[in-house]
Parts: sequence; structure tokens; C-alpha cells
Amino acid sequence: MVETMKIEVERVAKSRLPQVDFSNLPFGKIYTDHMFMADFRNGEWGNARIMPYGHMLISPATPALHYGQSIFEGLKAYRGTDREALVFRPMANFKRLNLSAERLCMAQVPEELFMEGMRAVLDIDRAWIPSTPGSALYIRPFLFSADEFIGIRPSLDFTFMIIASPVGAYYSAPVKVKIETHYTRAVAGGTGYAKAGGNYGGAIYPTKLAMDQGYQQLLWTDGKEHAYIEESGTMNVMFVFGDTLVTPALSDSILAGITRDSVLAVARREGMKVEERKIGVKELIDGLKSGLVKEAFGVGTAATIAPIQAIGHEGIDYPLPAASKQNFAAHIYSVLDEIKRGIAPDPFGWVV
Ligand code: COI
Repeated sequence: MVETMKIEVERVAKSRLPQVDFSNLPFGKIYTDHMFMADFRNGEWGNARIMPYGHMLISPATPALHYGQSIFEGLKAYRGTDREALVFRPMANFKRLNLSAERLCMAQVPEELFMEGMRAVLDIDRAWIPSTPGSALYIRPFLFSADEFIGIRPSLDFTFMIIASPVGAYYSAPVKVKIETHYTRAVAGGTGYAKAGGNYGGAIYPTKLAMDQGYQQLLWTDGKEHAYIEESGTMNVMFVFGDTLVTPALSDSILAGITRDSVLAVARREGMKVEERKIGVKELIDGLKSGLVKEAFGVGTAATIAPIQAIGHEGIDYPLPAASKQNFAAHIYSVLDEIKRGIAPDPFGWVV
């Protein structure tokens, strides 16, 4: 329960907004003037506040720093045609945050705290929502254990925060990915389905090795046999096999992406054949060789839809058709983009 949902507000003395070049937004480097923070202490949420974005004071014994008890979400706000703030599927992020919290043994975040905290950030930093095509305000809610205790046990204290960052494209060009057959992102029974910080931290080293070989990302395979495709980098992955959109079925080693769900819903609504199932590495390579695989792309909030230009496996790169010929990905991108920006009607009731 939130004790009282009154949000204290401390405003910045001087906005940093005039220094921002909205025509050239990198991903994740610029943060808005304010952030939201609330504390879970003695079994209750309280002290909800908006304060100037900046460094924080935390105990060196914070379990989030030692044991990775930290989870996050990512969602985007867009500037609608009549300039209001439009947020894409925030309730889906709210629910997933609490699913992650359960897996990491953390306090549940009440809906009111999540939604009102986000509303407060968007309200005070509304002018930071970019309106240029391809850009958005990336909203990053996160929750971490905040006890001053380095023993291992379920934490008692937590901090929930929301920061926001005006962003441009995550990838500037189609990506080359390598099928990873040694390192593992997630296994059955693990934390792969949760948006836990450690899932991402552990992926950096294998990704760096692939980058040294000229790839931008990995195609993760299952942790047991490395025989089935699971995700792509920090995203879900989809393929067009002939006339069918195919993506790995959800499991406890695959994150239930909100962009994944949105793409599938749009594809089904448009009458496209859709399959959520296991995709064998062999099946994928055979499909790339024969030309049956016409498109491959990552789907996630940060990058939205990231076309793949080539897939590497055992030292061979298998090219895909040029991004300009990956028509389904381009079409879905624009359908979703128009819904998110309030340009097209939202038949799904996704936009808040
Ligand atoms: C997102 O797409 O929101 C992600 O989680 C990627 C992020 C790690 C940059």
C-alpha cells in the first residue's frame, strides 16, 4: 500500500533543456531535469518525491551493488499531434516490473506509485519529449534493494525510481549478429524472463567478444544445447519464414517483451500467419541458405524494430535481404509508430 500518494516536488533552479540538441539525440546519455523517487521502509511505501536529476547518496553496503538486486523497465513517451504526452502500454511495464520483483524477492510496486510517479515526471519534464521522427522520451523505472546489510536474505528496504531520457535511434543501421553457441544469457529456472540488471551485465562480455569479431550483437541460444534461438542482444527476435512471422515461444529464459507482444498483435490483426514456437539453429541456417528466411529483426522498446543484415554461425556470415526489402518489418514499424504518436487510431487501447 502507498501510505499517502502525495508527491513532494523540488524543482531545479535552472533547466538544462536549452543545452539539448534535439536534432542529434544519442541513446541514453541525456537525462531530463527531474527524477521520481519513493522508499519502501518498515513494510510501507512512502516519501514519494520529485527532485532534481542528479547523483544520489547510498550506503556502500546496498545489496543492489553487491548482489544485483535490481530490476528495471523501459517504455517510451511520444508527443501527440495536439502536443500531449502519449505513453505506450505503461500497464504492461507495471505488471512486468512486479513479475521481476517477485523473482528477485523484492517488494511489489503499487500501481498508483508507478503510474502517478511516471505522470509526475512527464508533467514536470513535458517539454523534454522530442517530436522529431524516430525520437521519443525513454522512461526508465527501476527498483533496487536498499538495506544497509551485506548478508544474503530477502531485503527489507527498497527504492523505486523513474528517470527519463530523450532518445534518438538505438542502432543507426541494420545490425550483424552472431549466433552464440558457448555463452548463455538465461537458462530454464533462471532469471531470463525477469528484467533483472544482472541478465544484462552478464551479457556484456560475450557481446564484446562478438563485437571484436565485427558483429554488433548476439543471437542467444538456449543454455542447454545451444540448438534453439532465444533472443537477440537485449531484444526479442523475429523472422519471416516464407509468408509466416515466427518468433521463439515464451519460456522462463525469454523476456516477455512488450514490443514483441505488440508486433504479434498487429501482425495477427493484419491477417498474417504467426507462429510462436521453438526455432532451431539448424532450421534458421537452412532457411537462410535456401532463401526461405526473408526477414530477421530484433524487437524491443529501445530499438523498436532493428533489422538484421547478416547472421554469423561457425565462421560463416549468412546475409539477409537489404533492410529496404524487409517489407514486413518496415510496415509493422510504421503501423506501431503511428499508433504510438497518435497519428493513427489505436484499436488496441494501448496508448495512455
Ligand atoms: C529496452 O529495449 O528497453 C531494453 O531493455 C534495452 C536496454 C537494455 C537498453
